[in-house]
Amino acid sequence: MSPRSKRSAPPAADLPLLQAIARSAQPAPPPTVTEVADLRRSLLTWYGHQGRDLPWRNTRDPYAIWISEIMLQQTQVKTVIPYYQRWLSQFPTVESLAAADQQSVLKTWEGLGYYARARNLHRAAQDIVERFGGRFPSTLAEAISLPGIGQTTAGGILSAAFNLPTSILDGNVKRVLARLSALATPPAKAMPQLWALSGTLLDPQNPRDFNQALMDLGATVCTPSQPDCYGCPWQNHCRAYSLGIQAALPMREASSPLPHKQIGVAVIWNDQNQILIDRRPQSGLLGGLWEFPGGKIEAGETVEDCIVREIREELAIDVEVGDHLITIDHAYTHFRVTLQVYHCRHVAGEPTPIECDEIRWVTLDALDEFPFPKANTQIIEALRANAPDRAEA
Ligand code: ADE
Repeated sequence: MSPRSKRSAPPAADLPLLQAIARSAQPAPPPTVTEVADLRRSLLTWYGHQGRDLPWRNTRDPYAIWISEIMLQQTQVKTVIPYYQRWLSQFPTVESLAAADQQSVLKTWEGLGYYARARNLHRAAQDIVERFGGRFPSTLAEAISLPGIGQTTAGGILSAAFNLPTSILDGNVKRVLARLSALATPPAKAMPQLWALSGTLLDPQNPRDFNQALMDLGATVCTPSQPDCYGCPWQNHCRAYSLGIQAALPMREASSPLPHKQIGVAVIWNDQNQILIDRRPQSGLLGGLWEFPGGKIEAGETVEDCIVREIREELAIDVEVGDHLITIDHAYTHFRVTLQVYHCRHVAGEPTPIECDEIRWVTLDALDEFPFPKANTQIIEALRANAPDRAEA
């Protein structure tokens, strides 16, 4: 981390060149005691002026802080805030969460995505009540033993709730530290080094504010593109900035394009104007959530053929495929889907939950009572928008 005396513009350069510079540079020596002291002081001063006033920073309740850290794992602050507030009014204590049924937990989480987080919160609340008498554990080993809590989440919770010196290394922090040290590999290849740096920098006098400040620096200044190096309290210590390569860091792993699946989806109506929905198996993607049935369109198959086949395989009934309702594109972490959604009529057979946990016939109004994945809530909106047409038909 070489100091730079003046706040001047970094030189512009192209990406491969920048990466070559980072690769050829000597690995950063660990920061000296004086540098560490200066890094801590400058970050905490910056946080005092520029830190964000976020709801979970006005509490020391480990339960509320835990909820916020889980929500923030894969979701941005501005999306999390209303969910966090709604969650705490719905489940104000760990006991109330432990006693809730899974459907109401998933319904409160609906729209946040990565539903394993909600299922794990529910199971962990039951663990906390059973194993720890309802008190959130205050050691790293015990916190990490709970479902859904890894090293960085545990570090974030314990430092914020108990002011313990537990370091963190989430995505934002990896980027900050990769730039600070001009890390010449993708962060995934240097995790022990990055954890060590996070631990070295952590201020043992004020771990709570230090970690929160580090998160804010990554979220608001040391952003993925166009970092605000002029507003950065660490500019003078930043090795990437001094080499002019901050825009090229952190280095990325070579990635292959996401697979894209075409899915046929059925909105199956019966003669009482009810729709058939199914609950997905607990294990696997979107476990425990409700959906409109359907499945992957195989090579050479029409959407209509796919829907008839899938509904027979999944529910043991025959349907007649009618009008197209909507086409929805959605991206998950490891693949993309296009849902081609069709109105269908139940023709024969008693619906049987062969590849799902449960099935129900429900009215359009009653759909709101069930937790659905985001792509399926778009189907419900389209159904509501089209409902007058269907009533007339
Ligand atoms: N991301 C993860 N934890 C956070 C926190 N406590 N504040 C802001 N962003 C975060």
